[in-house]
Amino acid sequence: MNIKELVANEPIGSRVIIQGWVRTFRSNRFVAINDGSCAQNLQAVVNFEETDESLLKRITTGACVKVEGEIIESQGGGQRIEMVVQNIEILGDANPEEFPLQPKKHSLEFLREIAHLRPRTQTFGAVFRIRHALQFATHKYFNDNGFFQVHTPIVTGSDAEGAGEMFRVSTLDPASPPKTESGEVDWKEDFFGKETNLTVSGQLEGELFALGLSKIYTFGPTFRAENSNTTRHLAEFWMIEPEVAFNDLQDNMQLAEDNLKYVIQYTLEHCREDLQLLADRQANEEKQLPQDKRTIPLLEKLEFVANNDFVRCSYTEAIEILRNSKPNKKKKFKYLIEEWGADLQSEHERFLVEKHFGKPVILYDYPASIKAFYMRLNEDGKTVRAMDILFPGIGEIVGGSQREERYDVLKSKIEEFGIEEESLWWYLETRKFGTCVHSGYGLGFERLVSFVTGMNNIRDVIPFPRTPKSADF
Ligand code: 4AD
Ligand code: MG
Repeated sequence: MNIKELVANEPIGSRVIIQGWVRTFRSNRFVAINDGSCAQNLQAVVNFEETDESLLKRITTGACVKVEGEIIESQGGGQRIEMVVQNIEILGDANPEEFPLQPKKHSLEFLREIAHLRPRTQTFGAVFRIRHALQFATHKYFNDNGFFQVHTPIVTGSDAEGAGEMFRVSTLDPASPPKTESGEVDWKEDFFGKETNLTVSGQLEGELFALGLSKIYTFGPTFRAENSNTTRHLAEFWMIEPEVAFNDLQDNMQLAEDNLKYVIQYTLEHCREDLQLLADRQANEEKQLPQDKRTIPLLEKLEFVANNDFVRCSYTEAIEILRNSKPNKKKKFKYLIEEWGADLQSEHERFLVEKHFGKPVILYDYPASIKAFYMRLNEDGKTVRAMDILFPGIGEIVGGSQREERYDVLKSKIEEFGIEEESLWWYLETRKFGTCVHSGYGLGFERLVSFVTGMNNIRDVIPFPRTPKSADF
């Protein structure tokens, strides 16, 4: 059995075998064992008088053990059942002089340095079980709603976002690459016969499939070589990108809101114990802070988001709000909002969500000049049908749009943005043959996991974070 099954069934009187890792060993008697199947430990009670001293010495924090014994109602508080150990076997020792995890509070920074061992902690066990539940709920949501998952390529020759923040994929010798006559690197000689990179988004390929299967989504790794060392950015992250034929921007917003509420609700129903553990952790962390500096209790926050409508606010309205806001007037923003057309920084997004509206906000109809080339131009000729969803404590969690479906407009946009048309010939062709209104968005999976777990640093919700100057493990 694993501990999850054990706790669910409480097979009092049965003899069972459990394998897991020792969290603590108290009074030469009580071994707390965790096997990662759930947050709870099994309390295994050894009879130290009848157990070899040399064996007892090896029951240390981190050791892997196999225990066999009878399940009884617990004599102490804290757990309903416990095991009277008849046989204990050490499967793998963990020398206490060397094992870095001890039964005390370690900082998240320290745990990041030992990311190979942090899955053995209570906090990371909870975070990664919730991460799993969120990805499962995502697939369930889209499957139940008639979407097909499409595996878009990871190596691509195009820059979907046009931001140029890409990792090159090459087999050329960096010390002496083949050169063209004019002295430039000759990419024709490279593995794929052209310049290639790791994908920054599966959207463009996703669109091709939406214009055939109608409702699709991608869920894959995404790579961005942006030098943003923040608690919200990773160089390698996972993105969920639905794309739907015949959906306009309104439908797109509705889908995204529904999608987010569904997966959050799913964790509330299926991850109660782990969420409670993280909620307690957060409350404990913030104990010292004055009341007004504390964040909303985790479960309350999730219930609130799952059960309330998101605010919808146009970019133009948002600029008015920001321009007249206290931090703007008192010059508290790092980037002051002076005129229409300004790009919104995270300080502005957070002001809108956390201070002004106090709930998730969908901003839409942004200036064309600050958004990607593929977004549908509005009739005003200066805004595009873009939408970003902003979450408290996170900022942007979703970015999406209705797509430009008109061949001529898209073609001139590609020119305007200085993108080589040949690199997107296939994308343009879909606008020539059977084009239609369609929309989609990208949901940053780690930002979602951060939000749901209340973990403030995105590095703590992905198994092995890749960030500037760091790709260990
Ligand atoms: O807003 P973005 O750049 O949109 C796109 O890539 C579109 N092609 C999506 C689409 O319409 N299909 O990225 C989408 C989301 C962001 O809102 C954010 O949640 C996440 O991806 N994201 C990141 N997450 C972690 N680290 C980074 N460096 C991220 N960059 C974007
Ligand atoms: Mg964005």
